Amino acid sequence: MPITTNAYTKYFQERFGREPLLFLAPGRINLIGEHVDYNDGFVMPAAVDRHMIFAIAPNDNDRCNIYAQDFKEGVTFSLNELNPGETWVNYLMGVIEGFAQRGLPVKGVDCVFGGNILAGSGLSSSAALCCGFGFALNEIFGCGLSRLELAKIAQFSEHQFAGVNCGIMDQYASLFGKEGYVLMLDCRALTHGYLPFKFDEVEILLIDTKVKHSLGASAYNNRRQSCEEGVHVLKNKFPKIQALRDADLKSLESVRAELSEETFVKCKFVINEIDRTKRAAKFLKEDNLKGFGQMMYESHWGLSKEYDVSCPESDLLVTLASETSDVLGARQTGGGFGGCTINLIRKAAVKSFSEKVRQKYVATFEKEPDFYSINLASGVHIEK
Ligand code: GLA
Repeated sequence: MPITTNAYTKYFQERFGREPLLFLAPGRINLIGEHVDYNDGFVMPAAVDRHMIFAIAPNDNDRCNIYAQDFKEGVTFSLNELNPGETWVNYLMGVIEGFAQRGLPVKGVDCVFGGNILAGSGLSSSAALCCGFGFALNEIFGCGLSRLELAKIAQFSEHQFAGVNCGIMDQYASLFGKEGYVLMLDCRALTHGYLPFKFDEVEILLIDTKVKHSLGASAYNNRRQSCEEGVHVLKNKFPKIQALRDADLKSLESVRAELSEETFVKCKFVINEIDRTKRAAKFLKEDNLKGFGQMMYESHWGLSKEYDVSCPESDLLVTLASETSDVLGARQTGGGFGGCTINLIRKAAVKSFSEKVRQKYVATFEKEPDFYSINLASGVHIEK
């Protein structure tokens, strides 16, 4: 469902009796480079045309009155008393705390927000929530923060107030996205380039498994811990290795006896995934979508068999995709355990492929997947 910005102006006017400013914050997909952002690696995300929208205005006191349109739920809290409560409020409080820690003068706001990024679909609605809210506060109160600083605040919120020890990819993509482009983000330098991603005959089809991932669950943090354990051991032998980005398969193999099998396999996946992402970028620059797609498939099976963050539903979708030459590449996107698969598919085949997948998916799992084609969109912005 497209977002109607006018509707949000109206919701705000009805609730607060004045005019709001409107801000849009996109969700993101990740083409390749999964679970490598917290290993200082390279990732290739893009902002997509699914958004969180904020109708918001300052209210001249120290209270925030926030209404979540999609949940039909309102919360009021004082800026001086940030007591985490329901999940979505935590994210916003975390952002405010991030401003406060920088000594920035945020005051109270009235806000109605909502959107069309389904929570749990792997498109990072939480990053869009934090980035959009932070961007709005920055504009309204003239704090002068850069997009990178805002990404860091949004990440901080996720760490502190939601308990997910995430990397910075999602926040970065939501803030720095560019229409028609993917980002090649260096997660160590925190710099990026843009690669055009527009093809006449191929589109990006998302298939939502409808399996809601729960990143808060310790699984994500456990994976991160395995990587840190690996680095700890590698560092003893190779002091220059500060993150898995600095390791290669040879160095990893040389310390294998000191690692648990679990840690070894997880680190191996990450080292390979960083390499795949660089190769994928090269294929993309050469307009070689077949080569690019191959990297996506390899990434998926690494996530499934080695990193262990897939699920039977995502695996079936990727298997079905790999059975037709019309899908050049497919993989589960995001943190994992469900959510969406991304499919690079020939436009002419979208209908027949979707129908075939629907039938098999329903027959296997007795539930309907969702299909939607997406476009690559611009990062967080004010809607004029
Ligand atoms: C989640 C995290 C990101 C990243 C991905 C996996 O989306 O928020 O930082 O680690 O998982 O690539």
